[in-house]
Amino acid sequence: MSALIGLDIGTTGARALAVNAAGVVLADVSVPFPLLMPFPDWAEQHPEDWWRAAQEALRRIAAAVREAGGEEIIGIGLTGQMHGAVFLDAHDAVIRPALLWNDQRTEAQCREITERVGAARLLAVAGNPALTGFQAPKILWLREAEPENYARVASVLLPKDYIRLLLTGERATDASDASGTLLLDVRARDWSPEILAALDIPREWLPHVYEGPEIAGRLLSSVAEALGLRSGIPVAAGGGDNAAAAIGTGVITEGIVSASVGTSGVVFAHTDTFTPDPSGRVHAFCHAVPGAYHLMAVTLSAGGSLRWWRDTLDSDADYDALAAAAGATPAGAEGLVFLPYLTGERTPHLDPSARGAFVGLTARHTQAHLTRAVMEGVVFSLRAGLEIMRELGVPVGEVRATGGGARNSLWRQLQADIFAIPVHRTVAEEGPAFGAALLGGVAAGVYRDVAEACNTVRLHSDVDAPDPARSRIYDDTYAVYQSLYPAMREAMHRLSALATTVET
Ligand code: XUL
Repeated sequence: MSALIGLDIGTTGARALAVNAAGVVLADVSVPFPLLMPFPDWAEQHPEDWWRAAQEALRRIAAAVREAGGEEIIGIGLTGQMHGAVFLDAHDAVIRPALLWNDQRTEAQCREITERVGAARLLAVAGNPALTGFQAPKILWLREAEPENYARVASVLLPKDYIRLLLTGERATDASDASGTLLLDVRARDWSPEILAALDIPREWLPHVYEGPEIAGRLLSSVAEALGLRSGIPVAAGGGDNAAAAIGTGVITEGIVSASVGTSGVVFAHTDTFTPDPSGRVHAFCHAVPGAYHLMAVTLSAGGSLRWWRDTLDSDADYDALAAAAGATPAGAEGLVFLPYLTGERTPHLDPSARGAFVGLTARHTQAHLTRAVMEGVVFSLRAGLEIMRELGVPVGEVRATGGGARNSLWRQLQADIFAIPVHRTVAEEGPAFGAALLGGVAAGVYRDVAEACNTVRLHSDVDAPDPARSRIYDDTYAVYQSLYPAMREAMHRLSALATTVET
C-alpha cells in the first residue's frame, strides 16, 4: 500500500504525519521551535527554524514509515499557521524574522489600508476588514518601519509556502491560505488587482494561487536524497491550518462545524458560496475544497491561554494533571471568569488592545479553579463565534472537536456543555496534518477528489453530550462573560498603552 505525508508548520512546531490510503495513521513526528515575543504585541519566528524542524520531521517520518513496513510515500500535502509574512530578497534569502498571525503591531497600517481601499470594498473583495494579524498590513509596516529591509524585498510568502519553496523550488500558495493575506479577491480565488494597486504592492512579489488538492511543486532531488524520500513526489498546494483541519475532520458540507483548540481557537463552517459577514466579525475565506468557501471565528489565545497559565505556574507541569484538577472543581469555577485576550482578540471584538483578566477572584479560589476558569473562558470565546455563525444563518447540526484540545476530555466536555450541543471527534486527531495528507493523496491520484479522500475520516463512536444542569450554569456565566469586555474596554486600552510606553 502507498503512504501519504501531511506536513504542518504550526506555531509551536512542525508536525509530519504519515497515513496509508485508508486513512490509518502510520507515524506521527513533532519537532518544536521557539516563538519570539521581543516587545508587547510582537510575535515572530525565524523561518530558518521552521525549515530545520520540517527537515527533521520529514527525515524521521520517512524512517518511521520504512521501519513500519516500507510503504512507498507517493504524495505530500502542506499546511501551517496562516497569515505570516516571510520577506525574501532576490536570492530567496530571508530578510528578517517572519511576523506571525498573532502579531499586533500593525494597527496604524490597518487604518491606512481601510482608508486606501475603502471598508466596503475590503469586505466585498477580500471578505474581511483590515485586521492586524493578516499579511497585507505587515507588508505596509515593513515599508514604513524598516525601509532598508523593504527595499530588498523580491517576494513575500506565507509560512508553509516558504517551506514549499525549499522543498520543491516552486513559489506557490493555495486559495485558503491566500485568503488570509487581505490581498486576495476571495470570490475570484486570485490576487485582487484593485487591492494591490491601492496598496502599491507589486503582483510579482506574490506566488501563483492553486486550489488545495492541485500539484504545486515536486520534491527536489537534492532535498529528497537528504531526507530519505523519493525525488519528484508531488506536493499538493494544501491549505491554511484551519482549512486543512476541516478536510481532516470531514467539514466539507454545510451543517457540520469544527471547533479547534490549538494555540488559537477556531470555529469553522463550510459554505457553498462566498458570504462575508457584514460586520466583519468572522472571516470569509476560500476553503481548501476547490470552489468552496468557509466562515471562521478566531480566538487568538485558546490553547495559548492554557499554555501561558501552565508556564506561569511551572513550565514542566503536565496539562492532563492540570485539567484533571480543574475537572474536580464545579462548573463556573465558583463565580470566576477568565477573559482570554492575552494577545488582543479577533472574534468578536477585533481589538488588538483587548487584554486578559480573571474577574471574580476570592480567597476560596485555588489553582484548580483558575485553571478551570482559563479553559471555560476560552470556550466562552468560541461560543461567541458560534453564535455569530448562527446569527448569519449558518446551520450548526454537528460540532467536531479538533486541535490539541480535542485529545482532552475536559476541553471536549466544556465545549459540549457551553455550546449545549453534542461534540464528536475524529479518530485521527491531528486535523491539519491529516487533512494535508489527504490533499496530498488527491494530488498523487490516490483519491479522485476531496470528497472521496474524506471518506477515510472516521469518528469515534463515543460522543460528548451536554449536561443540561451545567449548560444552564454556563448560560448564566456566559452572559456575565459577554458583559465584561464592554465594561472593561477602556481600562484595557489604557493599560495596553502604558505597557507600550514602558517598553519603548
Ligand atoms: C486563523 C489564525 C490562526 C492561525 C494559527 O485566522 O490566525 O488559527 O492559522 O495557526
